[in-house]
Amino acid sequence: MSLPDAFLQDLISRNRIEDVVSAYVRTKQRGRTAVGLCPFHGEKTPSFTIYPETTSFYCFGCGAGGDVITFIKKIENLSYIDAVRFLADRAGMKMPEDKADDATSRLRVKILEINRSAARFYHNILYTSEGRVGLEYYYSRGYTDRTIKHFGLGYAPDGFALLNEMRKMGYKDEELAAAFLIKKSSRSGGYYDIFRRRIIIPIIDIRGNVIAFGGRVLDGSKPKYINSSDTLVFKKTNGLFALNFAKSSKKESLILCEGYMDVIALHQAGFDNAVAALGTSFTEEHARLISRYAREVIQVFDADAAGKKGAQRAISLLRKTGVQIRVVTLPDNKDPEEFIRIYGPERFKLLIERSVNDVEYQLIELGLKHSLNTTDGRISYLREATKILSQLSSPIERDVYASKLSDELSVSKQAILDQVMRYKKTDTKQRKKRELSHAVRNSEEVVRKVNPEAGEHLRAARAEEELLGLLILHPDYIDIICENLEPDSIVTRFNRGLYQCIVERHRQGKMTELSFLAADYHDDEMSYVSRMVQNARETVHTPEHVLELASVIKSEHRLKVLRNPEQIEDDKIKEVLDVLRAKKT
Ligand code: CTP
Ligand code: MN
Repeated sequence: MSLPDAFLQDLISRNRIEDVVSAYVRTKQRGRTAVGLCPFHGEKTPSFTIYPETTSFYCFGCGAGGDVITFIKKIENLSYIDAVRFLADRAGMKMPEDKADDATSRLRVKILEINRSAARFYHNILYTSEGRVGLEYYYSRGYTDRTIKHFGLGYAPDGFALLNEMRKMGYKDEELAAAFLIKKSSRSGGYYDIFRRRIIIPIIDIRGNVIAFGGRVLDGSKPKYINSSDTLVFKKTNGLFALNFAKSSKKESLILCEGYMDVIALHQAGFDNAVAALGTSFTEEHARLISRYAREVIQVFDADAAGKKGAQRAISLLRKTGVQIRVVTLPDNKDPEEFIRIYGPERFKLLIERSVNDVEYQLIELGLKHSLNTTDGRISYLREATKILSQLSSPIERDVYASKLSDELSVSKQAILDQVMRYKKTDTKQRKKRELSHAVRNSEEVVRKVNPEAGEHLRAARAEEELLGLLILHPDYIDIICENLEPDSIVTRFNRGLYQCIVERHRQGKMTELSFLAADYHDDEMSYVSRMVQNARETVHTPEHVLELASVIKSEHRLKVLRNPEQIEDDKIKEVLDVLRAKKT
């Protein structure tokens, strides 16, 4: 599928990459580029770089790269065409007509429609005899009709209730299966409802689409929850339950809790800024999402061991994004829902007001684990506590907590600060080392995946990469190179394809910048190509140098032929066959 160049050009100029990215990444201007923390991998030193001149980005940390469309594809988890549509919407542009509907986006639209119908079915049934048990369950947990309606809560009866209903509405079994609502039985081969005899919680995204469902049992049976698997419209690790409501809350912060039930109870009690991860543990993506919507997050996890572990995990992930963190500790092993049911919203509000920040929370938890009455206990407590303080980036904060610890344990403040700085130094060193080796590994992995032949033909691949990068960056070289370098002489297959594509587009008078290649290449391939462009940015280039690269490639190609004449023949034959096959279909 290809969109007209003129449309793409318009799209790209109306979606300046620096503006688009700034909705997701806080960036700082650095000369003609802008840098920030990479949204695609965890890091503390910014290596994510935006190049407005070439409307592209590249991360020196993880090797992710591409144009503005690739960026949206990756960060919003969309297909190429949907990313284009996203940017077109953003700029108030209309999509070119016929190209807009490929099969995948049609199925995506269909799944959303199915989900909406299913949610309506599950909800309406509550008020019939079949769904009465579900309604009673909600009432037993103190949910009002208003809350049930607000969240669109429902009930899935036994048997083939949904399947029958949806077939009547004209949906196909394959479509329902793609929405993760029915499944094929491995025994009988027939389809059956995935959600049966469960209360149903629809998951709604920030655009108001029903993207998935959670289903909870009414009794103590297992599994307690069934959640939608990933589908075309849903990625579990990316979404937050109730963010659609919380994002328009007047409150400045978000409350993060563990479960659907807690979130619903909190909203009912007036805390309309509560959200939760969706049937998975908290991820880096969740943390980034939260940081886009709030400056401060208030964690309210269950008071049990699992809740505490979750709280620590969330703290370390959230810290990387720079949001402020507060932690509410619930008394007597209550979860937030129980607490509100027993003590009411006012008392919960007090808990929030008295909540401590993440460091205080970690110090309190640490204190519970160590006996401060013995010397040994105090020493090991201090060792751990100074580690916690070493994670603080603000010297003022470090000083404040050091004073506090010094008072509590009668140890000199200077000794504490010295220890903190020692940890901080090793920490920074280790982190830098980790980030660097991670970076190297990542970009090597990308090359291995995208262009596996580069490994055996190092010299050729290096010259090809440099040449291709230069051609993309400086299209004025394409003419000279075309005359001097046959596509067939390119040694590695991926680079040969890329070269052909560039030459062909150039011949047709089409654009050859990164953005115009994005349609034909997937994310890893774009990262590889972006790396070529990145390296080309850093090389000094002259026509002689560019020609020199071409001749290196040619001589490497001759060597390859000499070394392995049959293989090259096979390659050629296969290519010819591929072309013929493509023409037939
Ligand atoms: N969860 C899940 N699958 C399970 C158990 C839990 O997906 N078998 C997820 C759900 O998203 C759930 C969250 O983890 O909302 C928290 O689990 P839990 O506290 O057990 O459930 P609650 O929703 O709080 O339900 P309840 O208050 O009825 O215990
Ligand atoms: Mn719970």
